[in-house]
Amino acid sequence: MTFANYQDELYAQGRRGDAPQYPIALADLEEKASHMMTPKTWGYVAGGAGNEQTQRANVAAFERWGLYPRMLVAPEERDLSIDLFGHTFPSPIFMAPIGVYGPCAQDGHGDLHCAEASARTGVPFFAGTLSADPMEDVVPLLGDTTGFFQLYTPPDRDLAASLVHRAEKAGLKGIAVTLDTWVTGWRPRDLRGAHYPQVPSTCLTNYTSDPEFRKRLGPDDDPVETFIQNLPIFGGPFRWEDLDWLRAETDLPIMAKGICHPDDARRVKDHGVDAIYCSNHGGRQANGGLTTLECLPGVVEAADGLPVLFDSGVRSGADVVKALALGATAVGIGRPIAYGLAIGGTAGVEHVLRMILAEADLIMAVDGYPTLADLTPDALART
Ligand code: FNR
Repeated sequence: MTFANYQDELYAQGRRGDAPQYPIALADLEEKASHMMTPKTWGYVAGGAGNEQTQRANVAAFERWGLYPRMLVAPEERDLSIDLFGHTFPSPIFMAPIGVYGPCAQDGHGDLHCAEASARTGVPFFAGTLSADPMEDVVPLLGDTTGFFQLYTPPDRDLAASLVHRAEKAGLKGIAVTLDTWVTGWRPRDLRGAHYPQVPSTCLTNYTSDPEFRKRLGPDDDPVETFIQNLPIFGGPFRWEDLDWLRAETDLPIMAKGICHPDDARRVKDHGVDAIYCSNHGGRQANGGLTTLECLPGVVEAADGLPVLFDSGVRSGADVVKALALGATAVGIGRPIAYGLAIGGTAGVEHVLRMILAEADLIMAVDGYPTLADLTPDALART
């Protein structure tokens, strides 16, 4: 079974007279999803910071690179598997953490659907701090696929430690600590409706179920209201000494999410992280920034052998192959997962993942790259 088989399945279905159940082109998928979310959720998911120039540029950056096709190789089998922290995954993609996966799905349980899609595809899922279902309910649905935790670090260190230790106990195998969202960026689409914070009401279950958090509730306190009034949603300032705190708190591999400058990559490495997660949060935080793809080669060089996870602007299998050739160890899919959830829950997410993987696999076949090791910067040229 290769990832390319998804194409054969779709053609076979067509021969039986059945058109594909879900859109194939990303633009069609996005359009359909836009009608299946509430306007608030759609604006939150599809929108970004400022006039969204960085968000658009993240996507456009991939068009400035082209892959060389290599002939007379014709690899009938391709190996897309990776090893991360001693765990083997069949493919080099992952589902990026998104705090509103929950309400993207029609039944409000998007995190659970992503976990099921992870079990079906072997594509790892990052259970988020912001989640419509607590991590203890998400993890059992991951099946045999290793999962990770994304941490927004509450300023109350007892609560933060509790989240970290719950992730360990639940069986998640690494922690991506998000560094770029200690304060919310300027987001006109949300501001227009003045509906920040729209996230909390549906996505606070990891906090409201937490024993440390519940200790602080009075008998008549509403947990969600108490949270909103007392804690910054995303955690507040997080600095070098806080990274040292986290390093001392857990033996799980730590991924530093939001690193784009080579000096920061070198420094987080010195502070003992296990992987660098190069991301600009999909252009949702600071407009006017470099694209993540532009930052990737410098970060990879500075990482000096440490794994580099990458996201922001990945929309296709071709994008995945280009990011891998530029040195990413694993490539994160963000908004397209939310669109898949909206149109089909678990099956919609599985469709998105399988489309991306089928295209990546077929590009490696056509272009003559049998393994990920063959995808080096020499496989690319600037257009
Ligand atoms: C995010 N992202 C994010 N990251 C994180 O570490 N914790 C979170 O809770 C969220 N929440 C979130 C919500 C929504 C609606 C979006 C679109 C994104 C950022 C995410 O992990 C990833 O970096 C971006 O989605 C990548 O950009 P693209 O590919 O979606 O453009």
